[in-house]
Amino acid sequence: MAILVTGGAGFIGSHTCVELQQAGYEVVVYDNLCNSSEKSLERVEAITGKPVKFYKGDILDRDRLNEVFDKEQIDSCIHFAGLKAVGESVAKPWEYYENNIAGTLTLVDVMRQHNCKNIIFSSSATVYGDPAEIPITENCPKGQCTNPYGWTKSMLEQILSDIQKADNEWNVVLLRYFNPIGAHPSGTMGENPNGIPNNLMPYITQVAVGKLSELGIFGDDYDTPDGTGVRDYIHVVDLAKGHVKALKKIEENAGLKVYNLGTGVGYSVLDIVKNFEAANDIKIPYSIKPRRPGDIATCYSDATKAKEELGWTAEYGIKEMCADSWRWQKNNPNGYQD
Ligand code: NAD
Ligand code: UFG
Repeated sequence: MAILVTGGAGFIGSHTCVELQQAGYEVVVYDNLCNSSEKSLERVEAITGKPVKFYKGDILDRDRLNEVFDKEQIDSCIHFAGLKAVGESVAKPWEYYENNIAGTLTLVDVMRQHNCKNIIFSSSATVYGDPAEIPITENCPKGQCTNPYGWTKSMLEQILSDIQKADNEWNVVLLRYFNPIGAHPSGTMGENPNGIPNNLMPYITQVAVGKLSELGIFGDDYDTPDGTGVRDYIHVVDLAKGHVKALKKIEENAGLKVYNLGTGVGYSVLDIVKNFEAANDIKIPYSIKPRRPGDIATCYSDATKAKEELGWTAEYGIKEMCADSWRWQKNNPNGYQD
């Protein structure tokens, strides 16, 4: 039996393929490569020494999905495929709702027709909106999202929960990721953003490698210890391992489950800059810019539930996250184009 990994060529998906193969699972990747390169899968194979079966296809393409489910013995699906750029989603809401929501509905329909009713879904801390409590537990009410991307996550959580409630043969695990950074310690796999990065760590590494001149820090007047935004950064390898643990829940027929995947520790933007400089002995020039619309002051998890129920805790600290992000960027200044 195999695990179908939609979006498996992407940043988190490719790292998860490594952990799945190393844990003994057979992996089938389904990805349209709209935001990734097939080369990431060659790197997975080089690390694990095992072949990755790859189907190029879109989650909106029912015929192609049927073909995969007809050919392969799929036991469970880890569903990463989706568009994720917050700003772009504001400009292109239709494209985001179509891709993420219609795509997931198509996937889930094909799954149930093939009697595969196990899914792990990539959700996000963004579903909490401006969180009602810090640290954020899974019981914290979902909030108002500030962009269509966030709403796709919130709505898909609801859709998948309703499907599980209507048919208890389904096992649905919703994983709410905090801020994934870092890269595989080998330096051969990492984040590969298109154009100028929106997220903090890829922006910093591109400043470090000389592709960008300085970091703009979006606001230093938040109600936080140093005035800059605080987030829960988590190493992508830890995040990937969380998916392997979540599969165990599916194997126990656990029904509907929701977990935060974070470290439980908040770092400010300036903390990240200082840790990056110290870990890698590189100066990151920066200037303070106005707040970015839609940003909140503080967002970090209470990671207790995943620890108690999945036996999962993040193991990597901020120094390793900074060192591994930099090793990937330094070895591959143009990502998978190198
Ligand atoms: P990514 O863009 O690197 O990976 C997503 C993959 O999905 C890409 O390989 C892309 O080609 C593929 N894809 C997109 N639309 C598709 C479609 N219609 N059919 C087939 N493949 C398609 O992003 P990532 O950072 O690895 O994120 C993975 C998942 O985790 C996404 O669902 C994302 O929304 C979610 N998530 C990411 C973060 C983050 O900060 N990186 C935070 C929370 C949640
Ligand atoms: N930041 C800067 N300068 C930059 C980029 C970011 O100062 O050039 C700051 C932001 O203002 C924020 C922090 O760095 O305070 C982190 O910003 P990111 O863009 O890296 O991450 P976000 O917390 O805004 O959002 C990310 C993903 C979302 C996901 C969320 C989950 O982009 O998709 O994490 O918590 F939902």
